[in-house]
Amino acid sequence: MAKKSIHIVEPKGKLGVLIPGMGAVATTFMAGVEAIRRRLARPIGSLTQMGTIRLGKRPEKRAPAIKDFIPLAGLDDLVFGGWDLFKDNSYEAALKAGVLERTLLDQVKDFLSDIRPMPAVFQQKFVKKLHGENVKKGKTKMDLAEQVADDIQNFRKTSGASRLIMIWCGSTEIYLKPGAVHQSLAAFEKGLRANSPEIAPSMIYAYAALKLGIPFANGAPNLTADIPALLGLALKNGVPVCGKDFKTGQTLLKTIIAPGLKARLIGLQGWFSTNILGNRDGEVLEDPGSFRTKEESKLSVLEYILQPDLYPELYKGFCHKVKINYYPPRGDNKEGWDNLDIFGWLGYPMQIKIDFLCRDSILAAPLVLDLVLFLDLAQRCPVMAHKGIQEWLSFYFKSPMCAPHLYPEHDLFIQLMKLKNTLRHLRGEDLITHLGLEYYD
Ligand SMILES: NC(=O)c1ccc[n+]([C@@H]2O[C@H](COP(=O)([O-])OP(=O)(O)OC[C@H]3O[C@@H](n4cnc5c(N)ncnc54)[C@H](O)[C@@H]3O)[C@@H](O)[C@H]2O)c1
Repeated sequence: MAKKSIHIVEPKGKLGVLIPGMGAVATTFMAGVEAIRRRLARPIGSLTQMGTIRLGKRPEKRAPAIKDFIPLAGLDDLVFGGWDLFKDNSYEAALKAGVLERTLLDQVKDFLSDIRPMPAVFQQKFVKKLHGENVKKGKTKMDLAEQVADDIQNFRKTSGASRLIMIWCGSTEIYLKPGAVHQSLAAFEKGLRANSPEIAPSMIYAYAALKLGIPFANGAPNLTADIPALLGLALKNGVPVCGKDFKTGQTLLKTIIAPGLKARLIGLQGWFSTNILGNRDGEVLEDPGSFRTKEESKLSVLEYILQPDLYPELYKGFCHKVKINYYPPRGDNKEGWDNLDIFGWLGYPMQIKIDFLCRDSILAAPLVLDLVLFLDLAQRCPVMAHKGIQEWLSFYFKSPMCAPHLYPEHDLFIQLMKLKNTLRHLRGEDLITHLGLEYYD
């Protein structure tokens, strides 16, 4: 008997994408969307644009494009706005970021030049390496949150957007542990009024968004919305949230390779990862406070995938090091080296070396697009929106947010299965278990 599909409101009108932090990732994303709309390029790397989904039994050969299977906003419906502490419009910012070639940027110059950042909520203590002048002033942090809320309402009017999404593409803030002020909405709002030093700028944007019922995604490893106060607000207002830290580059490869080693029960003695990176993100991460936030995010993945407690002979006490070196000549074209010391049958040692010449923002931009479209989908689907954290979007993150009593799922392939099964579930299709015994009856 066919299952019932779950109610999803159709995506009518424009979808406004609000971005705190309009640097390399944000401009590569926006320029890319416009280039794709003008048929200058293809949306490579985006599951919503190029992915398919298998449905039913294998002989049925049903594998529609994901965008035909579920009602997603179209690229033509996207409009963009955001904040930055630098005044450059998005064309200038994209040129400075040096990710996309000038010839491509010039073909979308009119579009990018019209996107000018609104003044940022910024406190230098949280990102030590940046000094910008396009910054809001306010007596209290609550004041600043209200200014962000006003910006959002103005953007809604001027852009004509019928729905909004916020996605943090700002710099990585210093490491913060959840404190008393983060434990409840009441404590957090009191903290906003009292200028609590524990409330970071990214939390102020997230608060303003969630308060207005706008879904929030966090592309950086900052604590931001991953605190009981803001998760409580999301649940109270029925708003989807997800994060943290886009899974690109070295960590993407880690979560591809580690599940394979574990699947074959190959042991791991150590995994050494180092990078050279010359963009502003690399410069920000030179500060030990910001690096600590990133390091936590990068280190956690292997522990969770390899499960040393279940496989102590293979994985207990493996050595894991991650280094990021700011090296300006490389710009956004990062190079990441990995050395894996592994062992097989009878304990015989082997090594794997990886040299990944990647482009950070090229890997991140399609993730931003998918997250925007999927979060909007979740918002139009009350059953999903009321769950708050969208764990099915773990696929996109280095430190996936999940319910407090769960451990995060880091294995890329389990994450993809979770995502696609969620889509099947929403449309009333059978979940795919890969059992397949029935083919041999
Ligand atoms: N590119 C990737 O592959 C990747 C992967 C994972 C995470 N990230 C994270 O995504 C974020 C963006 O990366 P990027 O390469 O675009 O960096 P970037 O330095 O080019 O851009 C970040 C922008 O955020 C702005 N900013 C900082 N604090 C702000 C605030 N409070 N309000 C408004 N704007 C603010 C900065 O001025 C800058 O323009 C970083 O936190 C990075 O760690 C990137």
